[in-house]
Amino acid sequence: MKHFINIKDISSKDLRKILTDAKKRKQKRLKLSTLQPDKDIPLKGKLLIQMFEKSSLRTRLSFYLAIKQLGGGTITLRSNELHLGEGGESLEDTAKILSSYGDGFMLRTDSNEKLDNFKKYLTIPIINGLSPCSHPTQVLSDVFTVEEIKKKPISKLNITWIGDSNNVLNSLIAASVKFSFKLSIGCPKKYRPKKFILDWVKSQNKKINIFHDVKKAAMNADVIFSDKVISINDKVNKINKINHFKKFKVSEKLMSYAKKNCVFLHCLPRGSEVDDIVFRSKNSKVWLQAINRVHVQKSILLYCFGKLR
Ligand code: CP
Ligand code: NVA
Repeated sequence: MKHFINIKDISSKDLRKILTDAKKRKQKRLKLSTLQPDKDIPLKGKLLIQMFEKSSLRTRLSFYLAIKQLGGGTITLRSNELHLGEGGESLEDTAKILSSYGDGFMLRTDSNEKLDNFKKYLTIPIINGLSPCSHPTQVLSDVFTVEEIKKKPISKLNITWIGDSNNVLNSLIAASVKFSFKLSIGCPKKYRPKKFILDWVKSQNKKINIFHDVKKAAMNADVIFSDKVISINDKVNKINKINHFKKFKVSEKLMSYAKKNCVFLHCLPRGSEVDDIVFRSKNSKVWLQAINRVHVQKSILLYCFGKLR
């Protein structure tokens, strides 16, 4: 049994194995319809319990399809409908119940501490479906999408992030270390990645490039990523923060500094950080990016259940 909480805690070898498996499985089910299971039904009879403390469309649907296609099933819980916290039931008791009813637990939460506590008390694997610190399932799937589009290892590409130093970027930074790709970040000075993250990169003898001049960050990029300036439940002065990001918008002009075939990616939902014309352009691959979550999460589930071949 393995957990999937942060990319930085998983070996490069295992991350690569997940992507290789996802590629094979995706190819093998080209002719199967949405709910038809993969031929080997490796998770037959298994139940994934999903719990969302924050809104979600893609993560919810993609885990639903992922476990179904592997032969298992899922139930989705909303934390405010359980006894957890409000009804006086301890997290430890909830974790014990989840562990005896289900085979895996996917949690989207506003609390890094809650994720750690569930990990402590669960006897089944836990998957982080977005936390304040990271969004690992999204980013591993994004690495898959980049390699699928560019038809080469991500280590040979220049990846750029324009935007906030948030959970998605933290996972992208971890991925840049694990997969050894060049990562350039364009963000306002006030919104640089946190020191402990930069210290971790240094401790791995790796480097990322941070620019406060957005053009420099975009220069020569093979892929430009962005994400909302205001994340879900972001407790900041929104007007003030959006003002700080005025110059950090992905426009056609900005894309013109990148390589000619530069791809635009965005995990969605989107805000004003990308111009509509870029979002809808032929270089934008956001819909492929979204559906690939299903394929990669299947292999993440297999990794967690000890069934990755
Ligand atoms: N990208 C992503 O995680 O989307 P949802 O918030 O809709 O799950
Ligand atoms: N950074 C965004 C990602 C949404 C999928 C958020 O946390 O809201």
